[in-house]
Amino acid sequence: MTTILVLHGPNLNALGRRDRHHYGTLTLDEINRRIEERAAALGVEVECFQSNHEGVLIDFLQARAGGIDGVVINAGALTHYGLSLKDALTDSAAPVVEVHLSNIHARESWRRHSVLSDTVRGQIAGLGWRGYTAALEALAGILGDEAAEQAK
Ligand code: DQA
Repeated sequence: MTTILVLHGPNLNALGRRDRHHYGTLTLDEINRRIEERAAALGVEVECFQSNHEGVLIDFLQARAGGIDGVVINAGALTHYGLSLKDALTDSAAPVVEVHLSNIHARESWRRHSVLSDTVRGQIAGLGWRGYTAALEALAGILGDEAAEQAK
């Protein structure tokens, strides 16, 4: 079965009470449940993981890298400076979709640059929690297309 990791970076454990204007009212558990429901409907396996620490995210990714097909990541503020995380994503060789709840391109200038963006297949920003399920659906579709192509 196709396995996709969903990684959440620093401060995303505080969703629901943190800056609701930008990040919405759902908690991370509620978002993860919606991701899991969509994964079940798509017939893919997901594993959701959050950490406030770049090294912990990297350790988790390295531990899973051999057994995963893709990654959906909201790296939080690590998006803007997390070069070790960027390297770990590249090393995993898995296709990655970057998600942001808020539209980072319409906020402070330091949020507009993502160090991950040249590493990822695509970026979804500004769609709230729906960005995660959209990313999952896109990634599952891309992986399915690539598997079909290879089977030819
Ligand atoms: C975020 C945007 C980042 O700039 C911020 O540091 C976050 C969340 C988003 O989902 O919109 O923690 O990645």
